[in-house]
Amino acid sequence: MNDIVIAPSILSADFARLGEEVDAVLAAGADWVHLDVMDGHFVPNITFGPAVIKALRGRTEATFDCHLMIAPVDAYLDAFAEAGCDIITVHAEATTHLDRSLQRIRQLGKRAGVALNPATPESVLAYVLDRVDLVLVMTVNPGFGGQAFVPATLDKISRIKAMVGERPIRIEVDGGISAANAAAVAAAGADVLVAGSAVFGAGREGYAGRIDAIRTAAGSRP
Ligand code: DX5
Ligand code: ZN
Repeated sequence: MNDIVIAPSILSADFARLGEEVDAVLAAGADWVHLDVMDGHFVPNITFGPAVIKALRGRTEATFDCHLMIAPVDAYLDAFAEAGCDIITVHAEATTHLDRSLQRIRQLGKRAGVALNPATPESVLAYVLDRVDLVLVMTVNPGFGGQAFVPATLDKISRIKAMVGERPIRIEVDGGISAANAAAVAAAGADVLVAGSAVFGAGREGYAGRIDAIRTAAGSRP
């Protein structure tokens, strides 16, 4: 069993002070920084791209966990690798040739992730598991922070955990995660927990407490 990784999503940070927010959340105990890239096409919201990630890269050596919610995606993989992302995750629904996208990410020297929307069956993973370092199980419909966890995804996490078996693949959950459901998702097999509003909603003095609470809950299996 892998150690639990807490990856706050800066989607819920103060965008006018993004650099300081990254510093603050890492100082508060975050393991990775989760970067939500949205294009207003694959998802109904727009955030930031490689230039912003590159600017943040200069501040820390922490793992940059880049969640691409963009379609098409292949044409931008090189740019996100050059910007300094360590993990590049593409949506299975956003690429026609998932196997090719994953191969390209690894060719670029990065860890490759596949994200699945709540309604996407885990069977899309069956023939790419040997090309994947991380599976991101969307536990809300992507596009916005602060949405409610979709309960049907809990069984899906367990099924993906079984599919993965002994392979060195991380299972990440993203959307509606807080200390209240961290134990349940970890028990189902998740070992990377993304949290946006549950961390940043606390105000800067509260980041460490929220991160600790999620980590403690995830470690204390029900
Ligand atoms: C949603 C993003 C998530 C989001 C999570 O499309 O992928 O990373 O920021 O935010 P919360 O934790 O507030 O649901
Ligand atoms: Zn995300």
